[in-house]
Amino acid sequence: MSKRTLSFVCQNCGAAYGKWQGKCEACGEWNTIAEEDSTSAVGARGPGKAPGKGRPFALEALSGETHEAPRLATGIPEFDRVTGGGLVRGSVLLVGGDPGIGKSTLLIQVAAALARTGQRSVYISGEEAVAQVRLRAERLALLDAKVELASETSVEDIIATLSAGKLPRLIVIDSIQTMWTDVAESSPGTVTQVRSSAQALIRYAKKTGACVVLVGHVTKDGQIAGPRVVEHMVDAVLSFEGDGAHQFRILRAVKNRFGPTDEIGVFEMTGLGLREVANPSELFLSERDLGSPGTAVFAGIEGTRPLLVEIQALVAPTSLGTPRRAVVGWDQNRLSMVIAVLEAHCGVRLAGHDVYLNVAGGLRIQEPAADLAAAAALVSSLANAPLPSDAVYFGEVSLSGAIRPVPQSAARLKEASKLGFARAFIPESAKAEASGEPQLTISANNTLAALVADIAARGTNRGPRLLKE
Ligand code: TYD
Ligand code: MG
Repeated sequence: MSKRTLSFVCQNCGAAYGKWQGKCEACGEWNTIAEEDSTSAVGARGPGKAPGKGRPFALEALSGETHEAPRLATGIPEFDRVTGGGLVRGSVLLVGGDPGIGKSTLLIQVAAALARTGQRSVYISGEEAVAQVRLRAERLALLDAKVELASETSVEDIIATLSAGKLPRLIVIDSIQTMWTDVAESSPGTVTQVRSSAQALIRYAKKTGACVVLVGHVTKDGQIAGPRVVEHMVDAVLSFEGDGAHQFRILRAVKNRFGPTDEIGVFEMTGLGLREVANPSELFLSERDLGSPGTAVFAGIEGTRPLLVEIQALVAPTSLGTPRRAVVGWDQNRLSMVIAVLEAHCGVRLAGHDVYLNVAGGLRIQEPAADLAAAAALVSSLANAPLPSDAVYFGEVSLSGAIRPVPQSAARLKEASKLGFARAFIPESAKAEASGEPQLTISANNTLAALVADIAARGTNRGPRLLKE
């Protein structure tokens, strides 16, 4: 009988401490540390094993026979794209996201799509009653799919039930934070419970070859353990993003042991559930504000897929001592950098102006290639000079004011041409890749200053002098 020991574990990141403290030093969150019984924690001895004695196993060479992991297409191509071509047998996926973003909706749709292909698929909800899940399925017109439902929270009961029948291909657990196991003594939702439950389900998946999808709520208050505590244990982590004001939802792979992590899946939340968006560029450009200053179309790449999106900027005289710089959908630091380059190398005076930058449609861009589009939008707004509405922009801006090349220029240009754009402002070095798109007029620049001068010359803002000498 081991001695009961108490430890204090951060419910956000899982860091353990010897005593309680207000702030977690590992993740910087406040009030997330809670007392837990560590004798039952993950890593405690397995049943019936004496300490220090192990079973020897054979080690293998790096070169050996490999088998391509067999994949199971779910019938929802946007979902399969993010997972790298479908669910891998025996793999465990974690789908994280804010409450209400649509995780349950997405996964009941995935479970139904798979069931329609004749595979056994099981949906276990720890949050909703069976009747509620049915009601949702009815709204989504999924009642004909043979998904097996249960409202259950005990991991032991779930595994016992699943082991009894035919092997399921897919098991959705909604959500991992509501699950509890007898192995751990702490209450459901704590780090120990979430980890132990996840571990039991992972063990089941590896043993049987079934795919397990865990839903994890991202929590800010730290009252229940966040999905981060199981991220390292699962094979893939997908995050489902979007904001309440927009209908677009983006599924993004954060970690994937069996595929790339840069692919995104785009969905639209409709009254009839999530609809796949096969051509996101058209969607993100559908409500463009043509002919007004401060907007530029960025030709981006998400994974292997080109994505055109509008970048909007507003530059307005400030009434504050320190002007505001606000950005939605892009990196604040990159905005500061672009502003600094515009001031230092292009003669643009932004110190007396508030700057707002927004990526239309609620998309979040991570590429440095958006620098050029952001800079063009900023200068366009400042100079009150609308940019040509049939032009796209891409290129990375260096601190010296040079426009640097970015990967996959040809794919970006192809998408622009396909969607009817006629001009492209690109880095000089990408010019060679433009030969495939003869219908595009290419404006290749080496420096940001040249582009800025070009935009400012067409501006109508004759108020205070905006450009320095
Ligand atoms: P849900 O899948 O329950 O979110 P999560 O599991 O991530 O907490 O989705 C909840 C939201 O989705 C809810 O605010 C309503 C909206 N919704 C629709 O707009 N259309 C639909 O067909 C469904 C089922 C939900
Ligand atoms: Mg839910």
